[in-house]
Amino acid sequence: MRMIKWQNGTVITPDQTKLPLQEVTLEIKTVEQMAEAIKTLRVRGAPLLGAAAGFGVALAAYHSKAKSKEKLLAELETAGTVIKRQRPTAVNLFWGVDRVLNKARSFSGGVEELKAVVIEEAEKIADEDAAQNRAIGKNGSVLINDGDTILTHCNAGELATVEYGTALGVVRAAWEQGKKIKVIADETRPLLQGARLTAYELKRYGIPVTLITDNMAGYVMSKGLVDKVIVGADRIVQDAVVNKIGTYSVAVLAHEHGIPFYVAAPKSTFDLAHKATDVIIEERKPEEVTHIGSQQIAPDGVNVMNPAFDITPLKYVSAIICESRVFYSKDFGEFRKGKV
Ligand code: MRU
Repeated sequence: MRMIKWQNGTVITPDQTKLPLQEVTLEIKTVEQMAEAIKTLRVRGAPLLGAAAGFGVALAAYHSKAKSKEKLLAELETAGTVIKRQRPTAVNLFWGVDRVLNKARSFSGGVEELKAVVIEEAEKIADEDAAQNRAIGKNGSVLINDGDTILTHCNAGELATVEYGTALGVVRAAWEQGKKIKVIADETRPLLQGARLTAYELKRYGIPVTLITDNMAGYVMSKGLVDKVIVGADRIVQDAVVNKIGTYSVAVLAHEHGIPFYVAAPKSTFDLAHKATDVIIEERKPEEVTHIGSQQIAPDGVNVMNPAFDITPLKYVSAIICESRVFYSKDFGEFRKGKV
């Protein structure tokens, strides 16, 4: 199912903060509404953020009253800056804005044609992401055996992409090939993407899923209940995978228990010009930790840390699955050099 669509100047996408209890569709008409949706995680997941970023710039183009190309370009640049400001870690957000802006900057026609070119480029990002996820699923499915139990963290499913999912795309592809697999989903505190979104998606596909709290991952691994771990990524740099907070702990646990740890992501998530030390980890508001939903669970005024992502060094990663191939750990030398 398409998670994000362009409909005559409106972006249609589910409000992921309401799932799984309510299925609410957002109709985003302005750059400001798109920015708010990104900031609050109504729209989330790295590949979906890439598409949302492109559509955010497209909204500015569609609704612009600019009479000159210079004025329109300036408005698009402003929209891009607003969108990029919302979250610092997932590289797709920056990639999506830059891809559409670069297309606009190099276009030599008039105002109306430029608007059309911008919208077309945003739609292309979405179409390509849908196709890439199916290719990731196919490429990654060779790593999955009949009967495997796969642990995943956060949500790297259809909801986090334009269609099909990355880590869950691999699971779905294996399932569609007839492999009888099961998934263990970490709940993923503080915002519970695993409990709310991954469990919801897998139940819809009919793939057996068992939900655990994050601190149970070591126990289930020690009991031999996990054959493989697959996660998505927000950014893959030369030396590390940046993904949802808690991914690093899962990777270290998998390493200790001799369980393969796979990362599935499109090349739009690769940022091989940078290293882990260059990445800004988003720090979110303390209330996400002191509260569960609207229920306060910690004393007033307690000190809180709330990094939204963590960094897993490549030494803990068994393979990276992208739309063109699988990079096994033996291939990480060429991967680091940007030969992708
Ligand atoms: O804060 P979120 O929910 O946007 O974080 C999402 C993740 O960390 C996902 O694992 C990642 O974006 C990959 S999604 C295919």
